[in-house]
Amino acid sequence: MKVCVDELRERYPVITGHRGFQERYPENTIVSFAAAVEAGADVIEMDVHLTRDGVPVVIHDETVDRTTDGRGRVGDMLLKEIRELDAGRWFGPQFAAERVPTLQEVLDRFGGRVVLNIEIKAYDESGPAVRGRVEREVVRMVAEKEIVGGVLISSFDANILKRAGRMTGAPALALISKVAFDEETLEACRRLGVFSFHPRFDVTTGALVRAMHGAGIQVYAFGADSADRIGRLAALGADGVIAKNPRQARRRWPKEARGTSPI
Ligand code: G3P
Ligand code: CA
Repeated sequence: MKVCVDELRERYPVITGHRGFQERYPENTIVSFAAAVEAGADVIEMDVHLTRDGVPVVIHDETVDRTTDGRGRVGDMLLKEIRELDAGRWFGPQFAAERVPTLQEVLDRFGGRVVLNIEIKAYDESGPAVRGRVEREVVRMVAEKEIVGGVLISSFDANILKRAGRMTGAPALALISKVAFDEETLEACRRLGVFSFHPRFDVTTGALVRAMHGAGIQVYAFGADSADRIGRLAALGADGVIAKNPRQARRRWPKEARGTSPI
């Protein structure tokens, strides 16, 4: 049975593995995603950029500098060049076999087994030649794999979500935010018809959670890993957390505290 985004409404708390199992494994690699699934994550989160030859690859930064042994902008490199890089050794010698995964590899390996939160990292500043290409490729690949129901496309950029949402066979959407919540954000979420809203921990408030819930939108916050922060999210009424250590996040989530904070 394939997993389904809608079923997340029935789960509590919803635990997402940020970049896989970022605390213990090299982020956004196959080994990191496998570890997050093994740890019982409901969702795995990943970041996607397009190579120069138009292939979606799973990597966080705009350049390969921090998380591989190479240098350069992902968008300036061919897939072949990126695949030659080591994406694990920077984190530990035991991970030397890891490569920058293509999105296709991740879909083949994990699609349907766990909900995939695919964050699109191409921003409008990328210019008209690139605009729309990433989301088009992601939507096409997810549809081809027949896992539309098990995918969330997320982005800080509402325009990316707007374009993705208009495409035939688009998966569910999620808006990410690191700025103070306001009515405009709620309106944007409503207009986009997002499934969930992903605020950074420090801008997550009870008012935000209540407003989103009033609109039928789930709230999964990121940037909260300590027991204190996770406890606070539960007290604010959040539905889940996007955590660097999904196993620990589940253990730290105090189930009895749902929505008890008046703030
Ligand atoms: O999903 C939320 C989070 O991943 C956004 O921030 O920079 O870690 O991609 P970042
Ligand atoms: Ca991300």
